[in-house]
Amino acid sequence: MKNGTIWYDNHGETIQAHGGAIIQYNEVYYWYGEHKGKPNIPGKQAVPLIGVSCYSSPDLIHWEYEGLALSAVPNDPDSPLAPDHICERPKVLYCEKTDTFVMWMHLDNPARTYAGAGVAIADDPRGPFTFLSSMKPNRLDSRDMTLFQDSDGTVYLVHAANYNRTLYFSSLTDDYTALTGLTFPVLIDQYREAPAIMKKDGTYYMISSGCTGWSPNSALYAEADYLIGPWKLIDNPCEGPNYRQTFGGQSTYIFYVNDQPHLMLDHWNAEHLQDSGYSILPITFDHNLLTVRWQNEFMPLASVNRNEEIRK
Ligand code: DGJ
Repeated sequence: MKNGTIWYDNHGETIQAHGGAIIQYNEVYYWYGEHKGKPNIPGKQAVPLIGVSCYSSPDLIHWEYEGLALSAVPNDPDSPLAPDHICERPKVLYCEKTDTFVMWMHLDNPARTYAGAGVAIADDPRGPFTFLSSMKPNRLDSRDMTLFQDSDGTVYLVHAANYNRTLYFSSLTDDYTALTGLTFPVLIDQYREAPAIMKKDGTYYMISSGCTGWSPNSALYAEADYLIGPWKLIDNPCEGPNYRQTFGGQSTYIFYVNDQPHLMLDHWNAEHLQDSGYSILPITFDHNLLTVRWQNEFMPLASVNRNEEIRK
């Protein structure tokens, strides 16, 4: 799979899983993301809402389309999932306590002035997910978002608030479907979007982008010893061609292939959003500095083997 290009499923169709996330469950990888498989609305950098797609794969290379895990609601203009609305950056976690899959997403009206989050659940990783609610988390805005599970099991909705000025961590109940009310701001007034978070050896790391719409900008990573902070912006983690524009991409999620963290990127094509591409790049640590080095190909097993070589 050539990084930075459109990717195809097992049937030669373009993979429509933008702003998404990959999870592993029972030896199968599931990739959820925005289905943008329609032409842009004339004159707009948007497509009508289709829903959240799900793909499955045994090896991260061969992807089977499992259909829409969460579908747009075509016949109810008041639904948060009405076709002219926005549903972006879906993230899914498996909740062991309830044996359900829980999806959170950014929901918005066509003018993007609502800035809320939505939650949906399913018994099967492929869905269909049942939509539960749409909310302003702790009365805050919620635009770009992700989910992060801390090592103590607590799950946080991490969301850009105050018109993208500041990211908030808002903790979720133990069934992951609601907010507990605990919320705290990080990277205050830094205008970061597209957060992707991981923890290594007791340190938290967050890769994020600046706020330039669909256009790429410099990724930055931040570090913290405690989730509540202080979070400190450290550097651009990217190395390679066009590293100041995140190789033409934007972060969306960090997932693990065995023990190796990988960063997922979207390569947005604003005028033809359905033709947006992807990259998946291993995250390494060089002298304790988080590094995302460009590779032309995503070769999951090769990157794991290479990392094992490095460890030896
Ligand atoms: C940047 C965000 O990261 C994307 O998810 C999307 O909302 C675009 N902005 C829209 O311009």
